[in-house]
Amino acid sequence: MGSDLRRFLSLPSLLTLAALAFALPLAAQTPLGGKVQAPAHAAALHPDDGRYVGPSSCSAVACHGGIEPGSATRVLQNEYSTWVTRDKHAHAYTALTEPLGEQIAHTLQLGPAEKAQRCLVCHALDVPAAQQARAFEIADGVSCESCHGPASRWIGPHIQANAEHAQMVALGLYDNRNLVLRTERCLTCHLGAPGLSVDHELIAAGHPDLRFELDSFTAVEPPHWVEKNADGHPLNDPLFGTRAWAIGQAVELRASMQRLARSAHSGPWPEFSEMDCISCHHSLTGPLSWRQTSGYPGHRAGDPPYNLSRYVLFQQIADEVDPSTNAELNQAASRVARLVTSMSADRAAVATAADHAADLAAKLSTELQNATYDRARTERLLRAITAQANTISLDGERTAEQATMTIDSLYIADANAGGRNPETRAAIDGLYKLVSNPSAYSAPQFAAQLQRVHQTLR
Ligand code: HEC
Ligand code: HEC
Ligand code: HEC
Ligand code: HEC
Repeated sequence: MGSDLRRFLSLPSLLTLAALAFALPLAAQTPLGGKVQAPAHAAALHPDDGRYVGPSSCSAVACHGGIEPGSATRVLQNEYSTWVTRDKHAHAYTALTEPLGEQIAHTLQLGPAEKAQRCLVCHALDVPAAQQARAFEIADGVSCESCHGPASRWIGPHIQANAEHAQMVALGLYDNRNLVLRTERCLTCHLGAPGLSVDHELIAAGHPDLRFELDSFTAVEPPHWVEKNADGHPLNDPLFGTRAWAIGQAVELRASMQRLARSAHSGPWPEFSEMDCISCHHSLTGPLSWRQTSGYPGHRAGDPPYNLSRYVLFQQIADEVDPSTNAELNQAASRVARLVTSMSADRAAVATAADHAADLAAKLSTELQNATYDRARTERLLRAITAQANTISLDGERTAEQATMTIDSLYIADANAGGRNPETRAAIDGLYKLVSNPSAYSAPQFAAQLQRVHQTLR
């Protein structure tokens, strides 16, 4: 169960805003100038040496191209088949050639999207010929080595019976077993990295907004592996989802602060994609909307709030694991939010505040790797988060969305460990419905549904 319920990810994204966006005053438009920084080459993604061999090097039936999962070796051996038939990453290049992709590139005057480096950095394994050990098709999209690193040095050794993971990592295999590193790798494309960026300009041209939560996105990918511990033994941990959520949140918070610091250093400012999208893009209902009656807690009426969704849920686990660092992080995140929300022109101050928050999140991500994730902790988190109905719902649609993915991940982990409850399941499905049309987001409705979820928890 579960993965079908995460269909949310395939719901019409904020593109549906196109139909609903209301005319905004000209003065609110982004100052022009400053395109995204000159795209650093995709090679920047893979600092480790070694060259790329392309996905067809992995597709033999005896390697990773089996049709059914096998048990002859330590891995499933149908990874290629899973990727090519069910994983959207195999479609990433094709997306550029479809009408939406071409329309975005046309608006941005980039020429054909499938030739534009600004797009290819995230939609394909786009490496220069010098880094290709053999010729392969860029049309394969986001393929094995986009996540696993260049294989020329480990492709031979890795098929030997005594191949050790650590040795392969030393030869350039990217260590995805480490959840911090794994999340970092996903986020290079799903949040952005130096030279890889989806900003408000791209979004306004039609690009889906980027959002992420490691555990939910892993379920949707879908995974072509069995989770293992550092020694290579299958984890068999029903509560792995809690761990993935916690570490994923820490890394995402850090990466989002680093992205903010980059936006503050160069490019248009304020950068609207750092703010809560829906505060600008909701429909006007009047005479008194829930936003007006709630009195805009924490900021001046009319200012577009910083998107704090990556901290609001995370703080629950941060507070359990290291309350003093979390207290510092709370201050740092509030400072970031204040500066961005007030559209401060002091870009250096924004960058400094964001860097400080990023450092604290990094410290927590290390601590969270060493933490234990049991049922008691999972259920405590579920109760604590659903008890915050007002704070979470008033923090905006982006936070409501993260809360929905978070609660789903934690519930599925708890259900795997024996805590199945159809009433909770149904109440969580209700949360998804309330964020399916972002422009129509209503904090009071979301708060009421969160309370319903809370009531079903024992
Ligand atoms: C920072 C990485 C990044 C860059 C740069 C980027 N994209 Fe994307 N793109 C993504 C991700 C990630 C998704 C999937 C988002 C999701 O579903 O959560 C996506 C989705 C899309 C989709 C929707 C695909 C579908 O199957 O519905 C299109 C179309 C698209 N991108 C086109 C482009 C074009 C055109 C460019 C260049 C102008 C571009 N992208 C640049 C990361 C990027
Ligand atoms: C979007 C990122 C991504 C892509 C694309 C991808 N993988 Fe993976 N793969 C992962 C992650 C994350 C893991 C789990 C961590 C691990 O075991 O290394 C994994 C695990 C594996 C494993 C299990 C490793 C083990 O030690 O148990 C194999 C084998 C594998 N992938 C092969 C492939 C092949 C072959 C392709 C291309 C057809 C591919 N992967 C494409 C992310 C990816
Ligand atoms: C090299 C860039 C890149 C990396 C690394 C990457 N992705 Fe993606 N991902 C994309 C792009 C581009 C798309 C959109 C493909 C499309 O829709 O055509 C996408 C789509 C997805 C989707 C489908 C989303 C939807 O709306 O249906 C999921 C789920 C996903 N990625 C999960 C992951 C996970 C988990 C990781 C890390 C293990 C990861 N990705 C790493 C670029 C990347
Ligand atoms: C500070 C206000 C503000 C914020 C925050 C903001 N936008 Fe925008 N958005 C605008 C303006 C202004 C336009 C241009 C409207 C126009 O030209 O008519 C726009 C245009 C768009 C469009 C094209 C609308 C259309 O009519 O087709 C989309 C889609 C969009 N934004 C999505 C987003 C997303 C997603 C986010 C968050 C990541 C976001 N916006 C954050 C102000 C904002």
